Amino acid sequence: MNLTLYVWRQKDAKDKGYMEKFDAKDISPDMSFLEMLDVVNEELESQGKDPIAFDSDCREGICGMCSLNINGVAHGPERATAACQLHMRHFKDGDTIYIEPWRARAFPVVKDLIVDRSAFDRIIEAGGYISVGTGGAPDANAIPISKDDAETAFDAAACIGCGACVAACKNASAMLFVAAKVSHLVNLPQGKVEAKRRVVNMVAQMDKEGFGNCTNYYECQAACPKEISVKFIAQMNREYLRSLRYKDK
Ligand code: SF4
Ligand code: FES
Repeated sequence: MNLTLYVWRQKDAKDKGYMEKFDAKDISPDMSFLEMLDVVNEELESQGKDPIAFDSDCREGICGMCSLNINGVAHGPERATAACQLHMRHFKDGDTIYIEPWRARAFPVVKDLIVDRSAFDRIIEAGGYISVGTGGAPDANAIPISKDDAETAFDAAACIGCGACVAACKNASAMLFVAAKVSHLVNLPQGKVEAKRRVVNMVAQMDKEGFGNCTNYYECQAACPKEISVKFIAQMNREYLRSLRYKDK
């Protein structure tokens, strides 16, 4: 298949940026979206031109690196699919595709389609962990956990930190991401010890990074490649209200 691409080009965070047109020729429908970009880049490199910069690592929906807005949709047209797992068979020969980076003030563009998502790392540093003494790993069945709690925690833990929820939200809210991390831990006994400190500090860091607030559009849930539910935002809000008197020392 042959495609016309309009791709966001931006030298660095200060550059204004623009859309550049490319022809993607002889693309196999079995290629992934990123493999299609690899083909375009090989052609650009063979002509001595600057290849399109984009992020990827695992290319199997695990790492959350592939931050592409495809035809205005975070991760593209397929539901519950990261851009790296999107296949070209979902497009038609002759299609025009617009590819842009995540658009959010808290995710500044580094180059072309690559954005700086270190704001997420700082939110995790603020509390997205549990503190445990080092030593041998305890037996897996030493702390009984109900099936419902384990499954709820596991659903939240599926978040890969990609940032599509932020990119899809008109408020650039990171609440689905933060809620997934808070809920993943608070639904397990090991995560309850630091629950108050965690939610207060993570929400404070989220606000400090410049993410917006949730106003219930649910675009985050629709864009999420791991189908993280907005019910976790409700759980985070409950946890937050319960913890409001908490002050970190
Ligand atoms: S909640 Fe979903 S969209 Fe948001 S960072 Fe996690 S996996 Fe990505
Ligand atoms: S490259 Fe890892 S999730 Fe897409």
